Amino acid sequence: MDEVKPYDKDTFSIDSDTLLNFIQFRRSIRRFKDNDIEQEKIQKIIEAGRYTQTGTNNQDVSYVVVREKLNELKNLTYKSLKQKGEYILANLTPETEHLKGYANMWVNMYNKYQEDPAKNDNLFFNAPLAIFVTSPSPLNGGLSSSNMELMTDALGLGTFFSGFTIAASKDNKEILDLLGVKDGNQLISCLVIGYPDVRYQRTVPRKEANINWI
Ligand SMILES: Cc1cc2nc3c(=O)[nH]c(=O)nc-3n(C[C@H](O)[C@H](O)[C@H](O)COP(=O)(O)O)c2cc1C
Repeated sequence: MDEVKPYDKDTFSIDSDTLLNFIQFRRSIRRFKDNDIEQEKIQKIIEAGRYTQTGTNNQDVSYVVVREKLNELKNLTYKSLKQKGEYILANLTPETEHLKGYANMWVNMYNKYQEDPAKNDNLFFNAPLAIFVTSPSPLNGGLSSSNMELMTDALGLGTFFSGFTIAASKDNKEILDLLGVKDGNQLISCLVIGYPDVRYQRTVPRKEANINWI
């Protein structure tokens, strides 16, 4: 019970307009400074995940923080995507035709990364940190991931969700072993995190909400 805090109106509430502005201003960051991320900031991002609600209060979300082994992860991820790309290109059917663009992109990304990893890191964009969220429940893991992203922004850091890294990890024993993902747990998201080297001036437009009022 040590971590339980009594309610305090001033520090426990957010104005709804401020919250909406924060959500509307959030952007994916793919350009990072060379700085490392402080341990306290990583803990705070995970705390945002830890306190996210879970179905039946299962609290079944876990995290893999990748720093020291980031280069190893990157090499395996590029290799896996290249192999997946080559397989798709060699076995094209009308059902997989729509994947041709991705397949070519993954093979090209691998080749460019081999030429000059520092200049051509189009998967992790030279970020110093990746945090994977794992859970048996996509919804629980997804909810945590989203709160973690907001916390990342609030800490002055930048992030994007790397769906390509999740795709690379699917059925890839080397990557799953490196991350220590056990049976029953799924990789839900990969937040690539660093100090942003870009500053946005305004929000972006979005499609109208598709709402069925009944
Ligand atoms: C599930 C998911 C997977 C994503 N995968 C990638 C990815 O692999 N590479 C990337 O550069 N961006 C990725 N993104 C970022 C999206 O491209 C981005 O959120 C979207 O274009 C909207 O832009 P914004 O985040 O700047 O508002 C992903 C986002 C989500 C939610």
